[in-house]
Amino acid sequence: RMVKRYMACRNDIHRHDAPFFAVYKSLIPAEEELEKQKQLMSKLDNLVAKEWPNAKLYLYGSCANSFGFPKSDIDVCLAIEDDDVNKSEMLLKLADILESNDLQNVQALTRARVPIVKLMDPVTGISCDICINNLLAVVNTKLLRDYSQIDGRLRQLAFIVKHWAKSRRVNETYQGTLSSYAYVLMCIHYLQQRSPPILPCLQEMEPTYSVRVDNIRCAYFDNVERLSTFGSSNRETIAELVWGFFNYWAYGHDYANTVVSVRTGSILGKREKDWTRRVGNDRHLICIEDPFETSHDLGRVVDKFSIRVLREEFERAAKVMHQDPNPSAKLFEPY
Ligand code: CTP
Ligand code: MG
Repeated sequence: RMVKRYMACRNDIHRHDAPFFAVYKSLIPAEEELEKQKQLMSKLDNLVAKEWPNAKLYLYGSCANSFGFPKSDIDVCLAIEDDDVNKSEMLLKLADILESNDLQNVQALTRARVPIVKLMDPVTGISCDICINNLLAVVNTKLLRDYSQIDGRLRQLAFIVKHWAKSRRVNETYQGTLSSYAYVLMCIHYLQQRSPPILPCLQEMEPTYSVRVDNIRCAYFDNVERLSTFGSSNRETIAELVWGFFNYWAYGHDYANTVVSVRTGSILGKREKDWTRRVGNDRHLICIEDPFETSHDLGRVVDKFSIRVLREEFERAAKVMHQDPNPSAKLFEPY
C-alpha cells in the first residue's frame, strides 16, 4: 500500500511543474543586466591593461556560471603570470587606479582570507569584488556553466534550491551553512545519479579542455554542445526533481559514511578520503568534494549546530513537497 501511495503522490506532483517553472522564470536575470556587466567589465579591462599589460580579467561566480540571480554583485579575478606578485601591493595600487577613475566605495581588503578590492560603479550601479590569481574559481565556474548547457533542468533545479536556501537562511557560510557553490554541486550530483542520468560526468570523459592551476590538473570534456540530448531519455520534470532532491538530502543520504563527488559522478566513502574524523575545524558532517581541489570538503564550514539546522530544513522541504497543497509558495516562506 505504501508503494501505491508513493506512486500516487509521484504522479500527482506534475501539477506543481507549472508553478515551479514560473518561480524559476521569475529568478532569471534580465538581458540588460548582462549588458551592464559587460559594460563594467570592459571599463575595468581598460584600466587594468594600462597598468599591467600582461594581466587578464575573468568573471567568476554566479555572474558567469549561469546560476546568478538578478542584481547580484559580480566577482572578478585578475590573473597575472608573475612569480613574485605581491598581492597586497597590487590590490592597493589597483584601488588607487579605480578611485582616480570615478569608481565609488573603493576599498582594499588586503587581510581577508581571499584578499580583494571592492568597488561600486556609479554608471551601471553594479558592485564588484576583484581578487588576484584565484584561477581555480575561474575554472570551476566554467565547469558549472558547461554542466548547465547540457540539460536545462539543472538550471531550473539549482535556481529553486538556491532560492530556497536564501529564503530559509541556510546559504550563510559564516553561520555554518552551505555556499551557493556547494548547493549547485549538490544539484549536479543529484542529476548525475538519476536513472537514466540527466547529466554525464564530464571529468570521467576524454578531456577536451585541460589547464594546470596551482599544480592541480583540471581536465574534462567541454564540448558540451555535443551532449545536448544526453538527458533526453529521462523524462523527470522540475517538481519531481525538486521533490527528489529534498527527499534525498532529508532521508536518502548517508551522512555518517559518504561523500558526494561530482568529479567521479558517484558517491564515495568517507574512509577513502580520510574524512572520518575531525581535523582542526573540519568536522566533515556533510561531505561535498570540490571537483578540482579534491582535498577540499565544501561541507567543512558545517558544525554540530548548523548540521541540525540544515537537516531540519531538508526535512521541512521534503515534507512540504510531499504534503503541502501549494509547495511552490510554502517552500520559500521566509525563515
Ligand atoms: N568558490 C570556490 N570555493 C568555495 C566557494 C566558492 O571556489 N568554497 C568560488 C566558485 O567559483 C564560485 C564562486 O567562488 O562560483 C562564488 O561562490 P558563491 O558566492 O558561493 O556562489 P555564487 O554562484 O556567486 O552564488 P550567489 O548568487 O549566492 O552569490
Ligand atoms: Mg557570489
